[in-house]
Amino acid sequence: MTDLVSTHRDGGVVCVTLNRPQKKNALTGEMYDALLAAFETASSDQDVGALLLSGEGGVFTAGNDIGDFLASAQSAAKESASTPASRFIRALARFEKPLVAAIEGQAVGIGTTLCFHCDLVYAAPSARFLMPFVNLGLVPEAGSSMLAPMRFGRARAAEYLLLSEPFDAETARELGLVNAIVPAEELRAHALSKARALAAKPRAALLATRRLMRGDSEALYAHMEAELGEFWRALRSPEAKAAFTAFLEKSKAPV
Ligand code: COA
Repeated sequence: MTDLVSTHRDGGVVCVTLNRPQKKNALTGEMYDALLAAFETASSDQDVGALLLSGEGGVFTAGNDIGDFLASAQSAAKESASTPASRFIRALARFEKPLVAAIEGQAVGIGTTLCFHCDLVYAAPSARFLMPFVNLGLVPEAGSSMLAPMRFGRARAAEYLLLSEPFDAETARELGLVNAIVPAEELRAHALSKARALAAKPRAALLATRRLMRGDSEALYAHMEAELGEFWRALRSPEAKAAFTAFLEKSKAPV
């Protein structure tokens, strides 16, 4: 098991921390597998009432590891159904317990799109959200092509999904993606206190309320599968491979 994702219990809260700061917490296949394992443990443990996500080193995550993207693009596999990333994305959307995120610094790609699945998101002033899928020759994932227009309205979502413009913590708060902006030195403690508060609630009522707030998820799951199909095709396109190679050769930052 990798130590690039660390997990510890704080009473009824599972705290999951991305811990690859030298690579801006970019997510590899083994990190997605570790995240998936943490989510599964949190799901099955009756004593767990909430899961808190954060990143080490002043950054949340730079998104999927671009070297991994290139390796997948060059692999012979015909579909993406069983990649660690797609397994994690499905588990994220189907997770039934409250999810809290503490976002500091870059939250790129999945770093932003997973926030749509969180119940409470707290951000440091340094938080910077970005969904650079189109710039990379890719399409959005984790339901974000449905959830961003629902949350932000289609006009604002187009700025972030079609133009791939970054947005800061204050904008994320205005858009309803972030609950509050908290000084960096207080961020994790603040998010943890909220996660603890959730975990201390009457569990059945909490989970039922969350389910009711999320509504019928079947349309979302179907949309996510459509995204994954498009994503896999896009990943193998010449333009995506060129964007990955350019980043890895440091000739061009995609963001
Ligand atoms: N995949 C693989 N490696 C990554 C990475 C990623 N997504 N993001 C950062 N890294 C690596 C860099 O290559 C660099 O490695 P090195 O020290 O061996 O040269 C290290 O992490 C530090 O990144 P750097 O680019 O120097 O940091 P920065 O603060 O100048 O910029 C980002 C941070 C996030 C803006 C920039 O790294 C970036 O654009 N990353 C790619 C984001 C992306 O497109 N992700 C895919 C989303 S779908």
